[in-house]
Amino acid sequence: MENIEFGLATQKDREQLMDYFRHYKVDELIERRVDCYTSHSFTVVARDGDRIVGTIQWHVKEDPYTGVAEFEEFHVLEEHRDRGIGSSLIGHAIQSVKDYFEKIGIQPKTIFLFVSEGNTAARDLFEKHGFQLASKIGHLFSDDEVELLYSLKFWPKRLSPSTLAF
Ligand SMILES: CC(C)(COP(=O)(O)OP(=O)(O)OC[C@H]1O[C@@H](n2cnc3c(N)ncnc32)[C@H](O)[C@@H]1OP(=O)(O)O)[C@@H](O)C(=O)NCCC(=O)NCCS
Repeated sequence: MENIEFGLATQKDREQLMDYFRHYKVDELIERRVDCYTSHSFTVVARDGDRIVGTIQWHVKEDPYTGVAEFEEFHVLEEHRDRGIGSSLIGHAIQSVKDYFEKIGIQPKTIFLFVSEGNTAARDLFEKHGFQLASKIGHLFSDDEVELLYSLKFWPKRLSPSTLAF
């Protein structure tokens, strides 16, 4: 996986992301998504040189005080798969959530996401990063696939023994 770099996309990546998310089909929708997820939400990207080869987008659910974030658009370009990029993207996206909440002084509580029951590759990766099956949802997006809700829970920071000393 040498030469792959991970980071947050910015408005400079607009054109490339517009192309990456062309499966949304409606131009206005794609533009809004890209603009939204490079301003008040986040797009974690894997780059091979200048080229974006993988993504996870995430946003804060409800207001930040709930400490809850949702992952979406976990994807790696086909020719770059099975090199560990997907796994690293998840790691970087989790860190990005922690950094965001730390910056605004709030304890992160949960990251959640939906994944199809049959998507064992993605499920295995999320489980390796500590996500657990929270609930079976049923046919949410298509009649063929059952969706699962996965979540990663952060434990509250414990007070260190020195803080507790009388
Ligand atoms: C899921 C996805 C992002 C993984 O990206 P990736 O870069 O290939 O991920 P990694 O290389 O880090 O890991 C791949 C792992 O899955 C395993 N794997 C690949 N295909 C698999 C399959 N069909 N079934 C089970 N495991 C599979 C690989 O062996 C590897 O395992 P390892 O970590 O033990 O070596 C990529 O396959 C993808 O973009 N899929 C289409 C979009 C998608 O399904 N997104 C998830 C929506 S929630």
